[in-house]
Amino acid sequence: MASSNEMSGKVVVVTGGFGVLGQAAAAAAQAAGARVASIDRGPRPPGLPDAGLSLPDVDLSDFAAAEKAFAQIGEAFGRVDALFNIAGAFEWHTVADAGSDVWENLFRANVLTAVGASKAALPLMPAGGAIVNIAAAAASARAAKGMAPYTAAKSGVLRFTESLAEELKPRGIRVNSVSPTTIDTPRNRADMPDADTRGWIPPAELAKVLLYLVSGDAKPVTGANLRVGS
Ligand SMILES: NC(=O)c1ccc[n+]([C@@H]2O[C@H](COP(=O)([O-])OP(=O)(O)OC[C@H]3O[C@@H](n4cnc5c(N)ncnc54)[C@H](OP(=O)(O)O)[C@@H]3O)[C@@H](O)[C@H]2O)c1
Repeated sequence: MASSNEMSGKVVVVTGGFGVLGQAAAAAAQAAGARVASIDRGPRPPGLPDAGLSLPDVDLSDFAAAEKAFAQIGEAFGRVDALFNIAGAFEWHTVADAGSDVWENLFRANVLTAVGASKAALPLMPAGGAIVNIAAAAASARAAKGMAPYTAAKSGVLRFTESLAEELKPRGIRVNSVSPTTIDTPRNRADMPDADTRGWIPPAELAKVLLYLVSGDAKPVTGANLRVGS
């Protein structure tokens, strides 16, 4: 696991930083001694504990907007050691019902946010840097009814991860993905009131896995996808 010493002074950027996992990841990185920048497309939620630099109202699928946000991070911190691409969205739609807007929105939210943030972060990332993209376990299984747009997008995250890992090997930058099953979030609890939640992943535990993947302990790991949850 990443020790406090190891993360001390490191700069960690969290996309989707105002969401459930994003907040947990920012808190874990900060607790481990990192300087944290959180980017999200919405306003900063009231009552969000201080987690370093907050960049609200940024649509990361707009590459120019992503560049602008990372320029601010560069000014504040001078570098980016780790990037957690957590921004994403889920919608359940049958193919019959989903218009092209659904496919486009899910591709934008899940794939283009990771691409936009990674492209903008790379000029600030030294050798030894690491990126973790959040995919979904559902994208590595046979896709269920209603899951086509989401799993197609998250499959894109997996392929993006592998290709970028190869591209960045010469720079000594690692890129991996994490595929959670179900995260224990208020939305999931509301959407699935009768579900057995015992296998759901507490966001804080998932955040520790993300920190491990950007730590020196995971130095030989790149281009991998780690399924998390039962
Ligand atoms: N929850 C689960 O069970 C589960 C399972 C497997 C994988 N995942 C993945 O894990 C990640 C985190 O999940 P979560 O439950 O913590 O989700 P969440 O609470 O909805 O957080 C995701 C955040 O990303 C933001 N975002 C979406 N599109 C963006 C864009 N274009 N630019 C900037 N920010 C954007 C969202 O903003 P808005 O609120 O405005 O949309 C939201 O704040 C997501 O990638 C999700 O797909 C979740």
